[in-house]
Amino acid sequence: MILGWKVTKLKINNLYGENLDLIEKGLKEYFPKKNKYPETIIKAMSHSLFNGGKRFRPSLTILTAKSFGKTGNDVLPIACSFEYIHTYSLIHDDLPAIDNDKMRRGKPTCHIKFGEDIAILAGDGLFAEAFYILSTKQKCEAKILIKVISEISEATSVRGMVGGQTLDVLATKKKLSPDELLLIHRKKTGSLITAAAKCGAIVAGADEKDIQKVTDYARHIGLAFQIIDDILDLKGDEEFLGKPVGSDLRNKKPSAVSVFGIKKAKTIADSEIEKAKEIIKKISGNPEGLIKIADFVNKRTY
Ligand code: IPE
Ligand code: IPE
Ligand code: MG
Ligand code: MG
Ligand code: MG
Repeated sequence: MILGWKVTKLKINNLYGENLDLIEKGLKEYFPKKNKYPETIIKAMSHSLFNGGKRFRPSLTILTAKSFGKTGNDVLPIACSFEYIHTYSLIHDDLPAIDNDKMRRGKPTCHIKFGEDIAILAGDGLFAEAFYILSTKQKCEAKILIKVISEISEATSVRGMVGGQTLDVLATKKKLSPDELLLIHRKKTGSLITAAAKCGAIVAGADEKDIQKVTDYARHIGLAFQIIDDILDLKGDEEFLGKPVGSDLRNKKPSAVSVFGIKKAKTIADSEIEKAKEIIKKISGNPEGLIKIADFVNKRTY
């Protein structure tokens, strides 16, 4: 399993490059100091956060900021806060009460390794840490920081990710219409991905029109990302994915595959990516990195 992850990381390195090392450095630097707090919670948080994960959301923040002339370092705390939040969402998503999954990022899930009580707290801890990092490490005008924090809290709230995860849980064993399914995907996964790109544009000082284009681009990317995740849940290679395949079927969760079939689901994802690329080509900044990461989304096998 671990070997699979090493291969995966090498592959990603070729795709969206030098940002990954910077992100790993930031995640470690902002992590609470180990000897100051209860050892168990620190171990559980680091088990889930480190040595795994594509770092897709922070990469998106950095690539967006770079396309408007900032450096990765300029937005590193914001970028890392997205990975802390995303990791919290994975820990809670894997819990027995939600998807009941035993592997994540090539390792036992947090609750398998540390128990459900500590896993719930590790998720809570990572979520809170994200806002601590944002409010203490990010250097930018207070007005901009408040905007970023409001975007992130909205995207993770009942308006976004938590709302989507709730709809996902309530959809168990149900037959959904295409629109109902797409709404869940846009909320549970699309919201955070959209905020990751949008905040990169906001902190880079992009104008309103460009921020809107980045937002629209990322909405398409976010939807495609979850559709591909659903396809990989059926057709993926466990060793490579680092998480179990067949989770949606086992949990009787409606997915893009059960609603559309694999072929149509892939066609929808492809068309979302094309739309995203058309939109992002029109920004006043340099869209190159964002086009590259868009292409990664529907070609990914992990
Ligand atoms: C998995 O996200 C959960 C979804 C929202 C689809 P990723 O595919 O980004 O998982 P990691 O971060 O690489 O482990
Ligand atoms: C999870 O979707 C979305 C989150 C907000 C965590 P999935 O349940 O499909 O994610 P995986 O397949 O477990 O990574
Ligand atoms: Mg789930
Ligand atoms: Mg899941
Ligand atoms: Mg899935």
